[in-house]
Amino acid sequence: MRLDGKVAIVTGGAGGIGRGIVRAFAKEGARILFVDINDEAGAALERELDGAGRFLNADLSEEASAAAIVAAAVEAFGRVDVLVNNAHASRQASLLETTQEMLDLSFGTGFYPTFWLMKACHPQLAATQGTVINFASGAGIEGQPTQGSYAAAKEAIRAISRVAANEWAPDNINVNIISPLALTEGVKAYIDANPGVEDALLAKTPLHRFGDPESDIGRVAVFLASDDASYMTGQTLMVDGGSIKLR
Ligand SMILES: NC(=O)c1ccc[n+]([C@@H]2O[C@H](COP(=O)([O-])OP(=O)(O)OC[C@H]3O[C@@H](n4cnc5c(N)ncnc54)[C@H](O)[C@@H]3O)[C@@H](O)[C@H]2O)c1
Repeated sequence: MRLDGKVAIVTGGAGGIGRGIVRAFAKEGARILFVDINDEAGAALERELDGAGRFLNADLSEEASAAAIVAAAVEAFGRVDVLVNNAHASRQASLLETTQEMLDLSFGTGFYPTFWLMKACHPQLAATQGTVINFASGAGIEGQPTQGSYAAAKEAIRAISRVAANEWAPDNINVNIISPLALTEGVKAYIDANPGVEDALLAKTPLHRFGDPESDIGRVAVFLASDDASYMTGQTLMVDGGSIKLR
């Protein structure tokens, strides 16, 4: 199996893409400490994983969570090879209606936890010559309307990922970014609240379907977490059915 012996931390791992990644990692032999604030979903996934995964309820927006998460992974499984910063919460509004509270929510659940966890994990990742996988969005890359607070935090995540790719290359730590499209609870809520968005999204997606959290996004995360991707760092992978072609 491609991730045999590896230990991963996955944030937002109880739902959506995070859960897809946890499942894909477990099928490839990894052991996973996954973090979420959804107790019920976290406990259900832990049961499903039958020993391969440990759920930790922690609010990523609290800085102290980062050290606690790394400590929990090391206590459960002895090391950390892969850090997946997947969780992110945000609200939509035009720029003129974007409030400080919206910026704080997006940066507080997306950018800051990514930064804090990267720093907290660095000693473990340096010891294992590990990998970081961060999450971006087409909303940031394209500057989609009503996504100001989210787009800004997502592009800030891409920026520190590239800095870390350069600074941590001597430690043999790879840092890459996935920009996904997948039908998850979060996307479904967004579609339900915004009539017409689903058709518009599919119309600009050449493969004309939403990705599956496990078989489409999770498998690319497996590749990035595996030794097959050891010569890739600082890259953004568009896993979005062809919606955006980065050059
Ligand atoms: N789904 C898509 O099409 C899409 C598109 C572009 C980018 N993304 C990005 O991919 C990632 C996953 O997206 P998703 O659609 O699966 O999201 P989601 O909203 O469906 O799931 C996010 C998970 O994070 C958890 N979470 C939220 N706030 C938290 C906190 N403070 N502490 C701990 N856990 C918390 C939630 O409980 C949930 O389980 C995110 O970074 C998102 O921005 C997704």
